[in-house]
Amino acid sequence: MEVLSREIRSIKHPGKVLEILEAGCGQQWDLDIGDGGYVLTGIDLDSEALRIRCDETKDLHEGVVGDLRTADFGQRTFDVIFNSYVLEHVPGAQQVLENFNRWVKPGGLIIIMIPDPYSVHGFTARMTPHWFHVLFYRLILGWKNAGKPGYGPYPVTYDKVVSREGIRAFCRENGLVLAAEYGMPSGLGLNDDSLKQKLVEGYKKALQVLSLGYLSADHNDIIFIIRKPALPARAGLQLSTALPA
Ligand SMILES: C[S@@+](CC[C@H](N)C(=O)[O-])C[C@H]1O[C@@H](n2cnc3c(N)ncnc32)[C@H](O)[C@@H]1O
Repeated sequence: MEVLSREIRSIKHPGKVLEILEAGCGQQWDLDIGDGGYVLTGIDLDSEALRIRCDETKDLHEGVVGDLRTADFGQRTFDVIFNSYVLEHVPGAQQVLENFNRWVKPGGLIIIMIPDPYSVHGFTARMTPHWFHVLFYRLILGWKNAGKPGYGPYPVTYDKVVSREGIRAFCRENGLVLAAEYGMPSGLGLNDDSLKQKLVEGYKKALQVLSLGYLSADHNDIIFIIRKPALPARAGLQLSTALPA
């Protein structure tokens, strides 16, 4: 989160208000991009999650209930689109990525976080049913509200584009620059010394070995920092061609 916050702060300029879209915003975000100088718009399909975000977290300037596949912002564009742990839940993720490419300004950033489908964590999420995820969150992670409106876990889909290869190909084919790609060893929020955490770690290591290293236990998630190239400066060109010979 520190790296991402720094990345966003780096394109903040005094006197300019940064327009940020948090796509699939849920109940909260964990970035710290300093006070002021930005307008934060959140959009989410889950109206209850958005209600909690607007009434309790209270950090959005604007909240929109909407579907990232079909939302329409008209001519409005954003300096930053932040999309964390959403794409793996969307059937039709390609459409969402195409919308991001339209909604982001030239020179702007698209930041995407997904659980890596080829980490043990992501593989397990893909291969197990939704009811198992709800039970895991309730019984192991102790989330009393798991599965209720406004609360995860959300059903997992994993379209083909939601992977390292998929996002790299999307950037290549759409003129976007994949500026950085990080593997992230995020935890489940369990205490490091707890028996539950040790069992989870044991399971991850065992699956890494059994899969002959195909599935990674060293990281769970991937972060992509994608830049839309700025438009070429044209003013100088027009000026020189407009001058009389
Ligand atoms: C796992 S939560 C992540 C929430 C938040 N971004 C975070 O990192 O804590 C996934 C969020 O994506 C939202 N979501 C899933 N599909 C969506 C879609 N098609 N359009 C908009 N939001 C969607 C869900 O409602 C949920 O709030």
